[in-house]
Amino acid sequence: MRIVIFGAPGVGKGTQAKIIATKLGIPHISTGDILRNAIKNETRLGLEAKKIVEAGNLVPDDIMAGIVKDALSDKLCQNGFILDGYPRTLDQAKLLDNIMQQLEPDNEYYIAIEVNDEEIVRRLTNRLTCKVCGSIFNISDLNDTTICPKCNGVNSFYKRKDDDEGVIRNRLLVFHSTTQPVLDYYGKQNKMIFVDGSLPVDKVAENVLSKLGV
Ligand code: AP5
Ligand code: MG
Repeated sequence: MRIVIFGAPGVGKGTQAKIIATKLGIPHISTGDILRNAIKNETRLGLEAKKIVEAGNLVPDDIMAGIVKDALSDKLCQNGFILDGYPRTLDQAKLLDNIMQQLEPDNEYYIAIEVNDEEIVRRLTNRLTCKVCGSIFNISDLNDTTICPKCNGVNSFYKRKDDDEGVIRNRLLVFHSTTQPVLDYYGKQNKMIFVDGSLPVDKVAENVLSKLGV
């Protein structure tokens, strides 16, 4: 199964993608995670992308094309994948169409998670991520912010640089101006499955899996 998960910043793409990837035994490909790793490791890509990502703007399409082609051609993706964070522009959607056309037909699903902007700002200003296991939390769900309840990592939580309120609001502007047309593009082809992301995490996951028929 090849799944593409869409939605504004903070709707829960990463949270849901991890649940679906585990359930279906397919890799979770997050273009944001790939960029953040490159930034952390100070690779050429990371040095090029750092300022753009930390300001909440989009990395140019030609750079993203190389990243997505590399990631999806990995043999780990042979039996499917869940793609999170790509496509975000119409040109990116057209490139993904080309990639999908070369793969087994009728096995692709496009899911859009929807949450209102003020809830998104509340979620992202309170997000913590574990640098050991990658689990994503909200501060209000943690009894102790020094130990990760998933992997027991000590002092392993970090706050993303783009989770500053001003940057979050810019990311939302970029989403509405540039990425919303991509959702409309798939919507017009009746390909998009819409899911209410304002429900609790487990309920959203249940609804997504049921719409996928698994
Ligand atoms: P990316 O990493 O993709 O970030 P994003 O789209 O802004 O989304 P987030 O990762 O912030 O949120 P999410 O939807 O994954 O939510 P999460 O599950 O964490 O991209 C980052 C940057 O990289 C971009 O701004 C851009 O610069 C660059 N980039 C990446 N891809 C690109 C591309 N294709 N082209 C160009 N540039 C690109 O959840 C958020 C919070 O909510 C957490 O605290 C979580 O615990 C909580 N939460 C989740 N679900 C629920 C729920 N149901 N109820 C209550 N709380 C919940
Ligand atoms: Mg994410």
